[in-house]
Amino acid sequence: MGEISELLGRGRLLAPMAGVGDPVFRGICASFGADLTYTEMVSAKGLAYGSGRTEGLLASGEGERRVAVQLFGREPEVLAEQARRLESRHRGRIGLIDVNMGCPARKVAGKGEGAALMREPALAGRILRAVVESVSLPVTVKFRKGYELGEDSAVEFARMAESCGVAAVTVHGRTARQLYHGQSDREVVSRVVQAVAVPVIASGDVFTCEDIREYRERHGARAVMVARGARGNPWIFSDAFSDAGPTTEERVRVAHEHTVGLARLAPHRLAGMRRHIAWYFKGTPHAGAIRRAVCDCACLQDYEALLEQILAWR
Ligand SMILES: Cc1cc2nc3c(=O)[nH]c(=O)nc-3n(C[C@H](O)[C@H](O)[C@H](O)COP(=O)(O)O)c2cc1C
Repeated sequence: MGEISELLGRGRLLAPMAGVGDPVFRGICASFGADLTYTEMVSAKGLAYGSGRTEGLLASGEGERRVAVQLFGREPEVLAEQARRLESRHRGRIGLIDVNMGCPARKVAGKGEGAALMREPALAGRILRAVVESVSLPVTVKFRKGYELGEDSAVEFARMAESCGVAAVTVHGRTARQLYHGQSDREVVSRVVQAVAVPVIASGDVFTCEDIREYRERHGARAVMVARGARGNPWIFSDAFSDAGPTTEERVRVAHEHTVGLARLAPHRLAGMRRHIAWYFKGTPHAGAIRRAVCDCACLQDYEALLEQILAWR
């Protein structure tokens, strides 16, 4: 319990986000104060097949002290084996192994992985037990309020997970069928907190420091994951920026650091900067023009020229 508590720190975590949480972005969030940053979900089977692309998702960001690696899959032995391999290969760099049982995407849940496991709690339990037994790192699980609209199985699922030896549970207060629509149900978090003894991490509609505070103080969450609220906004992890928000210079500085870092560490992902830059300047006076201009950026020099131009526009 001591180990997980130390990892969760002050309780501000960067959520796992496929297509968003590249290693450079994670490092930036860590440097602003995120206590723990999660990798994009990684297919255990992809790792087993030795896919370089899958391995690339695990690269560490600069400034990232410890990374939480999120795995998905439905074969207990494959997940256990890959967790064990990760632990021995990246000793000291990985803080915990999280198992995804909340992803509703068709290419994941449609294959019985991710959120589909909420409909197969017996198999979900075998997976968690197998992973817990295979590593000495803390193992956690992330799931949803339920699968079908109106379904509320989170408490039962959390109890099952706890009985398998997980060190913490993360609950997102939407059902899988809701995807990311509608409001996330915060009361589910309170009920899970009351039902289990392990720390509970809350996810769902975290866009401000106030949201973080509310989950912790009103609902009893030990930690809170920031997901969409962190896109273009790593400042959410910092006390210094909670009120005023960053200046244009500060936005440009961070967007530049992100772009240069990605060009060096993962050049094949540079096109992802188009979305990140649009997010960094969302809500600013030139947001529309920036969104259009960034579509024409292809190489590092293009991005740098645009960022220079943004400074000149003010
Ligand atoms: C683009 C995107 C990618 C995501 N990828 C993952 C993922 O790989 N693993 C995971 O557990 N959750 C993933 N999520 C879910 C988030 O971690 C989080 O639980 C969800 O967005 C609810 O939080 P929010 O309402 O504050 O955005 C993703 C969400 C988004 C928007």
